[in-house]
Amino acid sequence: MAITILVVNGPNLNLLGVRETDIYGEGTLDELMAGVSAHAESRGAVVRHVQSNVEGDLVEAIQAAAAGGDGAADGVVLNAGALTHYSIALRDAIAAVDVPVVETHLSNVYAREDFRHTSAVAAVCVGVITGFGATSYRLAVDALIDLLGG
Ligand code: DQA
Repeated sequence: MAITILVVNGPNLNLLGVRETDIYGEGTLDELMAGVSAHAESRGAVVRHVQSNVEGDLVEAIQAAAAGGDGAADGVVLNAGALTHYSIALRDAIAAVDVPVVETHLSNVYAREDFRHTSAVAAVCVGVITGFGATSYRLAVDALIDLLGG
């Protein structure tokens, strides 16, 4: 069975290509995800994608990753957007499931405002990748595939 990776994108990532392009680049979310999917496929893995601006949707996607149904996944690439910096609910969801999660960011959050230097989720993730643009997602996919023995 192919490894399934769930990519979870949080608030405002639907605006990629329009939003602060000097920071996040010109590419749209669809373009980003097409590249991530192609990369995962080249390594024999399958990508599913959820984007929501609602915290509870992200919590439910992470819970579903660990449940046996349609939302199941072997690992999660999580760009929680601003929720990264304060969502205890997301942290608790990650801690509650037995699925590896990689905290992922397009920008280098440590080179930006102080409030972005805090992560509510990093300590319960298997690792953090930040600052490589679209490549951050491909690195996160590679890390999960290696971790999962694919
Ligand atoms: C981001 C960084 C966050 O601080 C910000 O709130 C985002 C995007 C990134 O991918 O660089 O929405 O997660």
